[in-house]
Amino acid sequence: MAFCTAKIHAATPQSDSTLQVLHWWTSASERKAASLLAARMADEGITWRDAGIPGGAGIGAGKVLKSRVLANDAPEVTQIIGVSIREWADLGFLLELDKVAAANKWNTSFFPTIQNLIQHRKHVVAAPLGIHRINTLFYNKKIFSTLKLSPPENWDELVMVAAKLKAAGLIPLAQSSEPWQVATLFENLILAEGGPEYHRELFVRQNAQAVMDKRFSHALERLRQMKSWMNNPVDERPWTEVVRQFSKNEAAMMITGDWVKGELNDGGFVTDEAFSCTAMPGTGKYHLYSVDTFSMFTNDYSRIAAQEKLARLVATPAVQVDYNAVKGSVSVRRDADPARMDSCARASWNAFAQGATTQAPSLVHRMATDETSKDAIIAVIHRYFIDATVSPSDTQARLVAMYKTFGNNKKQTP
Ligand code: BGC
Repeated sequence: MAFCTAKIHAATPQSDSTLQVLHWWTSASERKAASLLAARMADEGITWRDAGIPGGAGIGAGKVLKSRVLANDAPEVTQIIGVSIREWADLGFLLELDKVAAANKWNTSFFPTIQNLIQHRKHVVAAPLGIHRINTLFYNKKIFSTLKLSPPENWDELVMVAAKLKAAGLIPLAQSSEPWQVATLFENLILAEGGPEYHRELFVRQNAQAVMDKRFSHALERLRQMKSWMNNPVDERPWTEVVRQFSKNEAAMMITGDWVKGELNDGGFVTDEAFSCTAMPGTGKYHLYSVDTFSMFTNDYSRIAAQEKLARLVATPAVQVDYNAVKGSVSVRRDADPARMDSCARASWNAFAQGATTQAPSLVHRMATDETSKDAIIAVIHRYFIDATVSPSDTQARLVAMYKTFGNNKKQTP
């Protein structure tokens, strides 16, 4: 794909106001959110050349980006998020946006966690778009009211609700066995077991002792228990297919990031009418986050004016309101008005606003650690999930061995 795009690039020389944007927003609602940004850019005279790469959680986009950079064909703008920002900035590829940040008072406008994420060695190298909450439980309102169920707030209530749904002949939980989707569910279970501090100990500091903790094996046991609430077998489907199952009333709950809300609304399955959100049981106060950001590749420095314009634009209050409403995420700005948000967004924004002690950086969505460790951890969890002969203690042993190889107890904080 990278080479094919490169050819187009060569055949049609771009003007200084054209920016190619590489991202992984390819579902219907994600495309709508991207188009909204493209339209706002067009108002300012900038042309958005779209390079959307399919694959939830950016698995495909990450690979395409690497091969394009190696081929000296980096896009001008890229959705690079979390720890990956540092990885690319370290290589010296990213445009510093300090002037834009200073002129637009980014240091007082954004939540501290956001400011931290977009900086590298005291320079701003990314522009933030929105905050997704990964510890979101979506439930079908009609099914819940027909069966007189309340949204579960803790594990015991979740088990009870799942049992009642099963007894009524329904599939309690819509889920895919795609590795990143399984690991997303697992990190929810970890957060419920031990809160943000334990989640960081495991996935940011990669402490082998934390892996041997009872809370880890407990979360694994629960993951296996939840399998009996899903399709049998749990097939490997893109997240949009899982959303479809949920919106056709074929499964009563879904636990994942709130990009799903954007997709549901886009398909006419409306927040607080057809479905509502609550936090993953046991994580009500916490916010497991993925923050979307754009970084700019400097290339030959010919597009700086347009790149700076784009960076400024995406973080303005007006674009933040409109973009996040479509995308399902919430504003990165502290001056956002929660009264203008739907109930899911309001709960997410308020939980995030509580500050670092209630926030946990998502492993799967690159907020906790580098690409290589993330992929390796996900593979271990996935193997446990799909193979019933792998025990929790096998899984712990595998992860401990891995953490030793990575050089465990890293002291960095995201
Ligand atoms: C991104 C979202 C995206 C989701 C599904 C996450 O990593 O933060 O913007 O919608 O992946 O692909």
